Amino acid sequence: MLILVTGGTGYIGSHTCVELLNSKHDVIIVDNLVNSKAETVDRIEAITGKRPLFYQADAADDNVMDLIFATHKPDGVIHFAGLKAVGESVEAPLAYYRNNLLSTIVLIDNCIRHGVRHFVFSSSATVYGDNQVPFLETMELRPRTNPYGETKAMCERILTDVARVNPGLSVTLLRYFNPVGAHESGLIGEAPQGIPNNLMPYITQVAKGILKELRIFGDDYPTPDGTGVRDYIHVVDLAEGHVAALEKAVPGVHIYNLGTGRGTSVLELVRAFEEANGLKIPCRIAERRPGDIAECYADVTKAREELGWEAKRGVFEMCRDAWRFEQSYEAGE
Ligand code: NAD
Ligand code: UFG
Repeated sequence: MLILVTGGTGYIGSHTCVELLNSKHDVIIVDNLVNSKAETVDRIEAITGKRPLFYQADAADDNVMDLIFATHKPDGVIHFAGLKAVGESVEAPLAYYRNNLLSTIVLIDNCIRHGVRHFVFSSSATVYGDNQVPFLETMELRPRTNPYGETKAMCERILTDVARVNPGLSVTLLRYFNPVGAHESGLIGEAPQGIPNNLMPYITQVAKGILKELRIFGDDYPTPDGTGVRDYIHVVDLAEGHVAALEKAVPGVHIYNLGTGRGTSVLELVRAFEEANGLKIPCRIAERRPGDIAECYADVTKAREELGWEAKRGVFEMCRDAWRFEQSYEAGE
């Protein structure tokens, strides 16, 4: 299949392009480079030996997208493009609603106009909010109260409504848990701008000496060691989940959790990182971070049974590969 990948030079998108190309699909990337670099295309080529077509363009620009759809006639779309920083979304809600909603509307509209039958959307475990773990696809959504989380729940609703009146269309909503790690080549990975918000890139920057110590946000949660529990998933497993979802897609709306089904606490992740890489991470217990929940992990039965996919890589590989990428990556490179 020929797959149009929006956000394909970003963190999860670039790894998915690699897995698509390795699975003999062809890839066109659309990315406006607001949070990534064009050289990622070279790196995807270095890993796979195949060069995806690349357009530096805004996925919310209807005229440009119409032209790209008309020119290339893709078989499917995977829509990664979006803004994703929770804190920033509280400060700049309009930018988040505009970018995340408009790009989704423009893309699904183009799919219908141009007869594209497969649409895969990057959703998030954030839509489950404070439901009881493990999170199941059938649970009522309670998106965490920030504009970013709201955009994910709203996009899911828009796409579900559109699929209902377009019976030939397949819409797959993939709810990611906590993607970490990097491609084992060390060529692509997560390169956040500024001080990272997320745990793994924070740890790797402490390991590298860029940041002094890790603040652990709360040790009084009702979890086994008091620190927050998350379902970390290796980004290459996540990328493989997209290929499985695309290849199994049938008309209708299909929702899958992409996680490992296992919870790991902050302290456990720090210890695993130290063991995997033979390093020490200075830590300090700090206040809870506003908006955090105690536990977040997936029930992954549906993806396993229907897609025949499950995560293969463990926390050791996640820590090893995240550190390998951090060492090879120079900020601003
Ligand atoms: P990322 O920022 O690395 O990648 C997103 C890419 O989209 C970037 O390359 C950016 O330049 C591009 N982009 C943003 N707006 C665009 C637009 N209007 N037009 C074209 N390109 C645009 O983020 P990521 O971690 O790879 O996340 C990919 C998707 O997965 C996002 O939709 C995100 O919300 C979702 N998601 C991420 C996580 C996570 O923890 N990383 C968790 C759940 C869901
Ligand atoms: N944490 C720390 N110190 C840090 C950073 C994080 O202790 O410096 C803790 C958090 O309190 C939490 C855990 O590490 O317990 C994971 O935090 P992250 O920020 O890495 O991830 P979140 O689970 O908070 O959120 C991520 C994405 C969201 C997405 C969600 C899906 O940032 O966009 O996963 O579950 F919605």
